[in-house]
Amino acid sequence: MATEEDLEKFRKEGHVAFVVGYTGETGKELVKALSATKPFTRVVLIGRRKSSVTDKLGEGFEEKVVDFCHREDYRDAFAGCDVGFNCLGTTRSKSGGKEGFIKVDHDYVMRTAELARASDCKRFLHVSSTGSDKNSCLLYPQTKGQVEEELKDLQFEHLSIFRPGFLICDREESRIGEKIAKCLCMPCFCCCGKYSAVSTEILAHAMVRRACHPNGKVETIDNKTIHYIAE
Ligand SMILES: NC(=O)c1ccc[n+]([C@@H]2O[C@H](COP(=O)([O-])OP(=O)(O)OC[C@H]3O[C@@H](n4cnc5c(N)ncnc54)[C@H](OP(=O)(O)O)[C@@H]3O)[C@@H](O)[C@H]2O)c1
Repeated sequence: MATEEDLEKFRKEGHVAFVVGYTGETGKELVKALSATKPFTRVVLIGRRKSSVTDKLGEGFEEKVVDFCHREDYRDAFAGCDVGFNCLGTTRSKSGGKEGFIKVDHDYVMRTAELARASDCKRFLHVSSTGSDKNSCLLYPQTKGQVEEELKDLQFEHLSIFRPGFLICDREESRIGEKIAKCLCMPCFCCCGKYSAVSTEILAHAMVRRACHPNGKVETIDNKTIHYIAE
C-alpha cells in the first residue's frame, strides 16, 4: 500500500497526467482527489466542453476542449502526459441508441488510448464495469469487454482496468433506470456492498493510488479490490 513517502517520491519524479471524462461523476471525484493529493506536476483535463472546474483547482490543472470525432484535432492534447485516466462513458438512451453508445464507450475510448500511446503515455487507467465480457450477447458488457481486450493490445507499460459494480454518487443528471436499480439493489448493497457497489469517491482514490503505484503490467481490478486499494 502506498505511503506518504512513496507519494513524495512519485511527486519528485515530475509526472504529467491527462483525464478524459472529467466532467462526469467519476471524473469529478478523480479531479478532486488529484487536487487534494497533488501527485502530478501538471494535469490536462480533456473534454468536449469547457467547465468551470479549473477556477477552483488553481495551478497545475488545465482544460482542453476537443472534438472526439476528429482524431487529428486532439492529438496534441496528450503531449508530455505519461499517465492517462479514462472515465468516459454514456448510456444507450443518452447517446441515442446502440451506435451512439458504441461511438463513445468504444470508439472515443480507443481513440484516446491510441493517441495517448502514440504520445508515449506509459500508464493508462480505465474505468470499465463489473461483468465486462467481450463474448456477451448484451451490448453493454460486450462493448466494455471488447475495449478491455483492445486496450491490452496497445501494450502500455502499465494498464489498470477498474471494474466497479454500481456507482454510488449524487448524480447530477436524472437516470430513471439507475434510480430503480439502486432502490431494488439497496438491500444487497447494505449486506455485501463491497462486492456490488462502490462510491465514485472510493473509485477515484483507488485510481490515484494505482496511478502512483501500479501493480504489474496489466491489472484487472474488481469492485472488492477497488475498496481494498482505496482503504
Ligand atoms: N453508472 C454506474 O453505476 C456504472 C457502473 C459501472 C461502470 N460504469 C462506467 O463507469 C464509467 C464512468 O461512469 P460515470 O457514471 O462516472 O460517467 P458519467 O457521469 O456519465 O460521465 C461520463 C463522461 O463522459 C463524457 N461523455 C459522454 N458522452 C460523450 C460524448 N459524446 N463526447 C464526449 N464526451 C462524452 C461526459 O462528458 P459531458 O459531461 O460533456 O457529457 C462525462 O465527462 C463509464 O464508462 C460507465 O459505463 C458506470
